[in-house]
Amino acid sequence: MSMAPIVEAVDLARHYQVRQGLFAGSATLKALRGTSFSMPAGRTLAVVGESGCGKSTLARLVTLIEHPTSGILRLDGIDAGTAGKSALRELRRKVQIVFQDPYGSLNPRKKVGAILEEPLAINTAMSAEERANAAREMMARVGLRPEYYYRYPHMFSGGQRQRIAIARALMLRPKLVVLDEPVSALDVSIQAQVLNLLIDLQEELTLTYLFISHDLSVVRHFADEVMVMYLGRAVEQGSRDAIFSAPKHPYTRALLSSTPIADPRRRGERIKLVGELPSPIAPPPGCAFHPRCAYANERCRAEFPESIDTGGQLVACHGVEEGRIDETQSQGATF
Ligand SMILES: Nc1ncnc2c1ncn2[C@@H]1O[C@H](COP(=O)(O)OP(=O)(O)O)[C@@H](O)[C@H]1O
Ligand SMILES: [Mg+2]
Repeated sequence: MSMAPIVEAVDLARHYQVRQGLFAGSATLKALRGTSFSMPAGRTLAVVGESGCGKSTLARLVTLIEHPTSGILRLDGIDAGTAGKSALRELRRKVQIVFQDPYGSLNPRKKVGAILEEPLAINTAMSAEERANAAREMMARVGLRPEYYYRYPHMFSGGQRQRIAIARALMLRPKLVVLDEPVSALDVSIQAQVLNLLIDLQEELTLTYLFISHDLSVVRHFADEVMVMYLGRAVEQGSRDAIFSAPKHPYTRALLSSTPIADPRRRGERIKLVGELPSPIAPPPGCAFHPRCAYANERCRAEFPESIDTGGQLVACHGVEEGRIDETQSQGATF
């Protein structure tokens, strides 16, 4: 088995030109501002952060739906920016996506069977009978009853629709599946079922997951590696255990302490995250988190913090680098 990463992103950025008003000119919105990471095969990287921090933008770049404004994206060892047409077609098969909204992402005019067979009809030379067999086999794998083959998406609940969306994403046997908030729109009681299905499928089909979520309690049970994003950048990256048991960046710690925890001994240690995510059109200078950070000083307000390997995890924070943020000290602090 090759040890090459499935995804390698180097300084990946995506900007959009947006109009700010009827008479104003256009402005540059930096949805993603230089993010680097690498994903080994067969594992799950979770990307977490507040709404608007650039998670879905990253998902669209990794799945080749959009081009980056700058930076390098390597998929399965191939540079997507310089790959030729046929290499790109191959890559598109290897990388699939499941969206958050199971209602909007399925064609309402097609029956489940046709929805699942469509990627095969477009991308393979399989016969109609082979496609139907493959669809039925995948339905069984994701827990959909055989008779659903003839039904339309509107006849299903959110959880079942998400199973259909997952089945469709797997029809071409991808290596990487980007899951963009795949359970966020589902009832809590259904979320665990879909997450368990994803875990089983990962093992059976040796899948690599890029799992996007704003919900740390979901990530805790699902991720191997975690990347925390703030305003278009990764502010902390590391193993799940490192991120959950020894978070270093003040933003990660604020996010964690705003997540409900079952352990009563840890109550009262909450760090409140106050203020709103600044606009990606005019991000704060220096460290973008400084207006919300209790540890911010002059340097944080002026100088952009690079990601630094702190032994175990990558952290982009001047305070952590200088050793002025003491873990015990932060407990009970307010942001
Ligand atoms: N196509 C687009 N055109 C203009 N702005 C966009 C576009 N897509 C996303 N954005 C903006 O980029 C930022 C990041 O969005 P997104 O990646 O959807 O964040 P998330 O998924 O973390 O909520 C937001 O400010 C959003 O409004
Ligand atoms: Mg999103």
